[in-house]
Amino acid sequence: MTQPKILVARAVFPEVIARLEQHFVVESNQLDDSWTKEQFIQKLQGKQGAFTTGGDRVDAEVLAACPDLKICANMAVGYNNFDVDAMTQAGVIATNAPDVLTETTADFGFALLMATARRMSESEHYLRAGKWSKWSFDMFAGSDIHGSTLGILGMGRIGQGIARRGAHGFGMSVIYHNRSRLSAELEADCKASYVGKEELLKTADHVMLVLPYSAATHHTIGAAELSLMKPTATLVNIARGGIVDDAALASALAARRIAAAGLDVFEGEPKVHPDLLTIPNVVLTPHIASATIPTRLAMANLAADNLIAVLTGNKPLTPLN
Ligand code: GLV
Repeated sequence: MTQPKILVARAVFPEVIARLEQHFVVESNQLDDSWTKEQFIQKLQGKQGAFTTGGDRVDAEVLAACPDLKICANMAVGYNNFDVDAMTQAGVIATNAPDVLTETTADFGFALLMATARRMSESEHYLRAGKWSKWSFDMFAGSDIHGSTLGILGMGRIGQGIARRGAHGFGMSVIYHNRSRLSAELEADCKASYVGKEELLKTADHVMLVLPYSAATHHTIGAAELSLMKPTATLVNIARGGIVDDAALASALAARRIAAAGLDVFEGEPKVHPDLLTIPNVVLTPHIASATIPTRLAMANLAADNLIAVLTGNKPLTPLN
């Protein structure tokens, strides 16, 4: 029997490519070349499966041009690069990579929160620039994490992981807002209270964004929302670029309308709004919240498992449609 053909659109662990090669004829992009949409479509010709990452857009145009495609497996929990409705209409299975990254990503969210509130990047840059000539009592004074109020927008698995860290580890009061309220058991486990979005923005000392990106969540945080936040507050975005209006955030940070921000994701990344690059009170990281080797390997293996399951006639493990 001839083996199905698949495309691995980005460079990935060699051992995962080797696993895929046991089942498929694999064309992979181990040089990690950046492809245009036309090149992506051209590479997908005759392929039944695609291993994608969050930057590989699969929409109606791609689907119409690639009639052999049966499954696209995303090596990411977020899947705003997929037009899932168009995939369903075209009979193409979409899968993502949830769960395996939850705790690693929650760790990172917390790390970014602490780095932001305690001004770690700003003070490190100062030190590296040779500006530290003497200690002073209020040097890089930040805001406390312990005992403060953490507001989480988006209370899926990662949001819950961050809530547990805050409530159980740092004695924070945790409030959250989400499309749907958690069960009473989950709220008790996370020690989190449900509030409206406006109340969250007004009350929280630290606002953490962990909601999925969609047209409905575009610019969830813009100038109006930033103006509701406390002037001492911090904002952390580990969700997706586009959830925050980065230009409005840059103005708010420059004018100290909020104290600081920590950003792992950006509108139009890998481009970053130029003002964010020069403002001191923002910590910037290049979309690395799930980046530990064991977690990235687990994500890649889950995407591979989905491809293997579907193209050998079984059900996907983590379907989106
Ligand atoms: C990373 O951003 C992911 O969605 O997995």
